[in-house]
Amino acid sequence: MSGITYDYMEQYIKGLIPEHSGMLKEMEDYAKENNVPIVQKEVAKFIELMVNNKRPCKILELGTAIGYSAILMSMSAGNNCKVTTIERDENMIEIAGRNINKYGFSDKINILKGDCLEVLEKINDEYDIIFMDAGKGHYNHFLPHCLRILKNDGMIIADNVLFRGMVASRELLQRRKITIVKRMKSYLEMISNDEKLMTSIIPMGDGIAVTTKKMG
Ligand SMILES: C[S@@+](CC[C@H](N)C(=O)[O-])C[C@H]1O[C@@H](n2cnc3c(N)ncnc32)[C@H](O)[C@@H]1O
Repeated sequence: MSGITYDYMEQYIKGLIPEHSGMLKEMEDYAKENNVPIVQKEVAKFIELMVNNKRPCKILELGTAIGYSAILMSMSAGNNCKVTTIERDENMIEIAGRNINKYGFSDKINILKGDCLEVLEKINDEYDIIFMDAGKGHYNHFLPHCLRILKNDGMIIADNVLFRGMVASRELLQRRKITIVKRMKSYLEMISNDEKLMTSIIPMGDGIAVTTKKMG
């Protein structure tokens, strides 16, 4: 029970998406066996669609884990795109690095080691797409930096924004998650109420928010 959509709907939509084979399947199996959270199937498809449509030159990801979504985005973006991805967990960095080399993405994907906020503060490049998938309790803190380095026609895709339904329902809210939920609500309010931004929140997977800068 995701707390976001009906289970039967989720299963139906997942069932329509063809299974991956090769490297993506290998990484999906690894993630499942080792309890590593990676993007859900329908979210992966949504991201593939957005990336393929936008044809970005530069993507920034917050939260590499084993490198699954970084590789997925790199594949969807084509040859002219560089993906930069931030991760603080040494073990994940090692596994992602191994996958990126093994599957032939070392010239397309670069891992920046460290805490997202600290790394973000130092970044001055501009990005076409920023995929937020780390530190759910800090999206509101990441946002000003992401907006600073987002191209004018760029897009922020944030995953897990409905956080198992807890942001929308007091009944689903677990006491120990109150701080994360408060901060996530703050993120959603920031991206929804800023007149310079345009946001759509999609109840898919664990909730996705897509934000762009309004064109003048
Ligand atoms: C949900 S996983 C990322 C999954 C990945 N995007 C994928 O779909 O293949 C989140 C990752 O972010 C990392 N992480 C969490 N908070 C972080 C932070 N503040 N700075 C850097 N990495 C962080 C975790 O170690 C974890 O590997």
